[in-house]
Amino acid sequence: MHDVDNTPVLDIGAPAHANPIDVAANDDVHPDTAVLTDLDIADHLCAVVYERRGSYSREARAVGPEHQRKLYADHGFTTEKSPLLGGIMVFMSVLDRLGRPLTSLRLSVTDRCNLRCQYCMPERDYGWLPRADILTFEEFDTLVDTFTGLGVDKVRITGGEPLVRKDLPDLIALLAQKSTLKDLALTTNGILLADRVEALRAAGLPRITVSLDTLHADRFQTLTRFDSLDAVLRGLELAAGAGFDSVKMDTVVIRGVNDDELVPILELGQRLGAEVRFIEYMDVGGATRWTMEDVISRKEMLRRLSAHFGPIAAIDENTAAPADRFTLPDGTVFGIISSTTEPFCRQCDRSRLTADGLWYRCLYARAGTDLRGPLRSGVDVDGLRELIATTWQARDDRGAEERLASDGRSTLVPVETLQGEPHLEMHTRGG
Ligand code: GTP
Ligand code: 5AD
Ligand code: SF4
Repeated sequence: MHDVDNTPVLDIGAPAHANPIDVAANDDVHPDTAVLTDLDIADHLCAVVYERRGSYSREARAVGPEHQRKLYADHGFTTEKSPLLGGIMVFMSVLDRLGRPLTSLRLSVTDRCNLRCQYCMPERDYGWLPRADILTFEEFDTLVDTFTGLGVDKVRITGGEPLVRKDLPDLIALLAQKSTLKDLALTTNGILLADRVEALRAAGLPRITVSLDTLHADRFQTLTRFDSLDAVLRGLELAAGAGFDSVKMDTVVIRGVNDDELVPILELGQRLGAEVRFIEYMDVGGATRWTMEDVISRKEMLRRLSAHFGPIAAIDENTAAPADRFTLPDGTVFGIISSTTEPFCRQCDRSRLTADGLWYRCLYARAGTDLRGPLRSGVDVDGLRELIATTWQARDDRGAEERLASDGRSTLVPVETLQGEPHLEMHTRGG
């Protein structure tokens, strides 16, 4: 039987409640048969159709006539024709109030950092999260599984500086083996990278992003309070030769600090085969010295770069990634993250988990949801999943857009307030 556009149709049968993983583990499922695992339209999980293909796959062939597809769409599922599978793919994902799926999760594995970047941690003293509250790798693992069950398929490990977390490769090894994750990456300041590259690769880390804001040793010291540019460059070089699927470089551009380095930084990226992303200076919590005058806008960056390299072409992509990508006349690809002057909130599918298990749905949000408490008090996976799903469904955050629309834009959180509330800091939430 086929429906109007020749998509194979199967009888969906009675609603059944089964964990998708249980279905995948069920050897009775014929490899070419799509199986409905969950049809609970009133609930946040809606209909999910799985196909057994040797291993569990979230992007499986869904079948059904037109009205069924509409049903999926009406209840928050995205469907897409898949030339590969010859059917319709149904993505299991819970949507927020602006129709944004929950797909990207940033894990801040520590609030500690071994630099003091001017745009993130410019103060003398900081209060740290209590050690007893820091999630163990097993707790992160459980939470990641709960999130992937709701649509998350991209995880980025951040901090603070993630490489200061002891035994980080053990966490990476746990995450790298999850077939539910399409993307796993780490963002680091590079200080400890040279020593850790091998262990990170051995643990299965596919991608890495290194923050690098200047190529001048003296500026590096002024910007970060440490004289460590060489260590970062060494780490970056080693990473570039280590066989990662991709190495990226993140550069926060600040007027009068490093705005004359766009060209050399891009050239370093070219030499190393790393994609450079220039980031507009953001007024996030922690950026207590931020002023609009110090922001170099995306437009200005493009003007400066094209004055040197010639015409720049925008790459036409429709993604939820914060970076818009461009090509130079010689084909070099680079990105610009313009969260300050041209926010991407409408596509924002990301949320972040702090090292002590608070879950934030926006970089600018005042409050997060405690997941550590329920986890440690023994709530079951269904309870956690319900909490996360309903909280995401209520999400209407557009922090960067609201900041853009606000009058007299200045620092987000006064330094006195930050002192008592480390959760408002970017270095706690994950850069
Ligand atoms: P990839 O392109 O997949 O490597 O991911 P990514 O762009 O998320 O990478 P990265 O972690 O390097 O983020 C780059 C920068 O984008 C961050 O350091 C922030 O400055 C900015 N950014 C990241 N997440 C958010 C967010 O949720 N909101 C806003 N407004 N900006 C963000
Ligand atoms: N503006 C822009 N990006 C920031 N980051 C931290 N603070 C800011 C800020 N005020 C991001 C940068 C940095 C990473 C650790 O966090 O990308 O490289
Ligand atoms: Fe997403 Fe908030 Fe960042 Fe906008 S400001 S992109 S909603 S996290």
